[in-house]
Amino acid sequence: MGKRYGLFDPNIRLILFFLKGYPVTTQKKETFLKEYTPPAYLVDRLDLRVELDPQATRVRATLRCRPNTNTPVKQPLVLNGEQLELVRVALDGVELSATEFHFGDGLLTIAQVPDGPFMVETETRINPAGNTALEGLYLSSGNYCTQCEAEGFRTITCFPDRPDVMTVFTTTIVGDTASCPVLLSNGNLIDSGDLGDGRHYATWHDPFPKPCYLFALVAGDLVRISDTFTTRSGRQIDLHIYVEERNRNKCDHAMRALQKAMRWDELRFGREYDLDTYMIVAVDDFNMGAMENKGLNVFNSKYVLALPETATDTDYEGIEGVIAHEYFHNWTGNRITCRDWFQLSLKEGLTVFRDQEFTADMISRPVKRIQDANIIRSFQFREDSGPMAHPVRPPSFVEINNFYTLTVYNKGAEVIRMLHTLLGPETFRRGMDLYFERHDGQAVTCDDFVAAMADAWGKDLTQFKRWYSQAGTPELTVRADYDPAARQLILTVEQTCPPTRESAEKLPFFMPLAVGLLDAQGRAMPLENAPDATTRVLILSEAKQRFEFTNIASTPTISFLRNFSAPVKVRLDQSDEELGVLMAHDPDPFNRWDAGQKLGLHHLLAQIERHQQGQPVQVDDRLLHGLRNLLLDRDSDPAFLAMAMALPSENWIGQQMEVVDPVAIFAVRQQFRALIGQALRSELLQGYETLRIPGPYRYSALDAGKRALRNGCLAYLLAPPLDGVLDPCLLHKGVHQYRHADNMTDAIAALSCVVNADLATGTELLADFHAQWQHDPLVVDKWLILQAGCTLPGTLDRVKALTTHPSFTYKNPNKVRSLIATFCATNHGQFHAADGSGYDFLGDQVCLLDPLNPQIAARMLTPLTQWRRYDAGRQQLMRAQLERIGSQRSLSDDVKEVVERSLH
Ligand code: TRP
Ligand code: ZN
Repeated sequence: MGKRYGLFDPNIRLILFFLKGYPVTTQKKETFLKEYTPPAYLVDRLDLRVELDPQATRVRATLRCRPNTNTPVKQPLVLNGEQLELVRVALDGVELSATEFHFGDGLLTIAQVPDGPFMVETETRINPAGNTALEGLYLSSGNYCTQCEAEGFRTITCFPDRPDVMTVFTTTIVGDTASCPVLLSNGNLIDSGDLGDGRHYATWHDPFPKPCYLFALVAGDLVRISDTFTTRSGRQIDLHIYVEERNRNKCDHAMRALQKAMRWDELRFGREYDLDTYMIVAVDDFNMGAMENKGLNVFNSKYVLALPETATDTDYEGIEGVIAHEYFHNWTGNRITCRDWFQLSLKEGLTVFRDQEFTADMISRPVKRIQDANIIRSFQFREDSGPMAHPVRPPSFVEINNFYTLTVYNKGAEVIRMLHTLLGPETFRRGMDLYFERHDGQAVTCDDFVAAMADAWGKDLTQFKRWYSQAGTPELTVRADYDPAARQLILTVEQTCPPTRESAEKLPFFMPLAVGLLDAQGRAMPLENAPDATTRVLILSEAKQRFEFTNIASTPTISFLRNFSAPVKVRLDQSDEELGVLMAHDPDPFNRWDAGQKLGLHHLLAQIERHQQGQPVQVDDRLLHGLRNLLLDRDSDPAFLAMAMALPSENWIGQQMEVVDPVAIFAVRQQFRALIGQALRSELLQGYETLRIPGPYRYSALDAGKRALRNGCLAYLLAPPLDGVLDPCLLHKGVHQYRHADNMTDAIAALSCVVNADLATGTELLADFHAQWQHDPLVVDKWLILQAGCTLPGTLDRVKALTTHPSFTYKNPNKVRSLIATFCATNHGQFHAADGSGYDFLGDQVCLLDPLNPQIAARMLTPLTQWRRYDAGRQQLMRAQLERIGSQRSLSDDVKEVVERSLH
């Protein structure tokens, strides 16, 4: 073979495909945290020139390298490079011959490099139009965009693709003037012009050294919506949101959210924005929610675009949260980044904590806390007890994309929140300041973060760090002994943690337990050693520990784990009476809500057992009484009441069962909803009428809460009895609300009720909805979600039919999530059909998706990983699907890793 690689001839490309070890032949090995070694070479500057072409984009890269002084032994230069056609390599201006470098198995290796600084140039070609994995450079709606985190940059050019190599980027983009009027990259625009051949160029310079995963390039036909933000030091920042023309009018909410987030980070954390412009681009095809590329965030359009008639209150809230999350990464992620991908929670856990705090301030602190605790208990606990369980800092991985998880993100945020609880807000803030001061501009580890907190606190956090190395959910068993004569309460807390892959024997965790006591009338009892006189923060550090409460006048009701102060399961026997006291009086809103959930859970579990024995389902009066009180409550936040009205999720119920019976859980929960709807009909109808909001729709936290409560009432009223017909008069209420709603929140809530209550009417309204919204991809997603989530019989056949509907495509992750994941991960009653038809369907879908988009295929697999939780029949059927998927030839590393961990 000559020294030119890949004259742009399709046959040569094909030969190269096999010779050069493309993905078919590469197989990733497991990478270990303990094997971390610093990079042998650093790259001070990278000059990129990207000449865009749908099938043949040419990338020229100039790397200014130097040996890293930390590595004394001279080593070859090794760059990552995958799915690239290598055209040319030069060292210090001299082109290398085929013997002077090696390219294959994802690496470009140059054995001989100078001792001092040197320059490497490469020219590669890539095919963005053929990129369906949506990693690297790809096309979305005909526009170019990139996704480099975690390891996508290596599919754009040859580079040390690891976050501890931080480089100053200068990027020139050349594109077709007509089809790509907009050319964007990170940092500041320093040059642009016409090339006279129908093409133009733009050069961007980012003055902040960054790892390559934060690189971004966007090019296409986009319009720009602009506003400004003045920082507290008086600098004016230009804010730009880029979208397709058709979405021009949908960016207001996102822009306001960005401005709020920028102000909030100044006030709460003293963090100011650093560049002169902040750009956000919305694209329809995106694997995740959004990406924090320096100065140029790329977003799933779902988290940018909103109009009252197209987006729900939940969408509005999600947009505000995700915009804030990506903005907050500018300090926690970009200015201070991760040394390696094992440290992912360093940026993600911390940034989730920050966005949770922001949303708490924007909507309501208790409501946000309940939402977040619900995510942990319904989904993270499940992950922690399954085969994919891993510590917040995983010790190893095959495919890092599989570790963007609830554990790293949400449990990681809980770990930060525990530090916040232990240190208190002021000391925590000093710890944050110290972290920023020490590590600005560096790539660091979770240990560095905890060290800053420990130094601010003046205490040792070595034991606390077990949260980073031990997986699994700790289980607390609490015993309360009250001695009236001694006026003393003793709480005995024992902690255990089930074995997980990385550690069979767990050492005790260190955690804050916030506790309050109520007397029989529900009054808060004064406590010694309690900062606010009624909540005491116990510090649990041993396997078994005793805590004394003195001067306790009467038998207390215990409000344990207030505000969900640690991500643990709690076993504490409490009677329905005690739960009733907490439900009515606990000053801690989280526990007030949780007491209702516990009461609901208790009755649901009892009835599930009866149902399994063939007995009819009944709803206890105590539960009805509690729900009636909520409906008559005119003082509490409606958003809180809406959450308190909801029954525990099917997932949370399942976690309480030795053997999960998804069909029974669904049936009993459904029957509860119908019986509650009947028993509380007049109160629900009254709530429905009185909560009506006058005037046109406006998104605000208060109005959203009212709508949630009102639509919650409607949902109970329209809950179909399992063996009966719904009152047509009620059905009509749903149809009427759907037809007359001026906003998507009310329209979709009503439509969902109808779709789940009456197949014929539902089908008719769905057709109407599709006809009205088929041009809007985000609304079509909602149309798919409603159908895939439909709990009336026969959904699987309708979902199968929808996979060939013109409004569906496997190439768009939002569509796949809306149709396939909604059915397989939320429609438990039907996905888990005893004949295995749901499992078989998921097996087919994963096999079909894997060659297109491995990241998404691996995520779709999640429900099957839980097979051990079910009965023997289902276990066998689920395993059979995992084995079938595992036996496919040329399976992605992503899917292979999940299958293998699940089976072994
Ligand atoms: N860093 C992103 C965030 O949390 C996550 C992300 C976006 C991502 N796209 C990705 C992770 C693709 C892995 C792969 O904000
Ligand atoms: Zn993030």
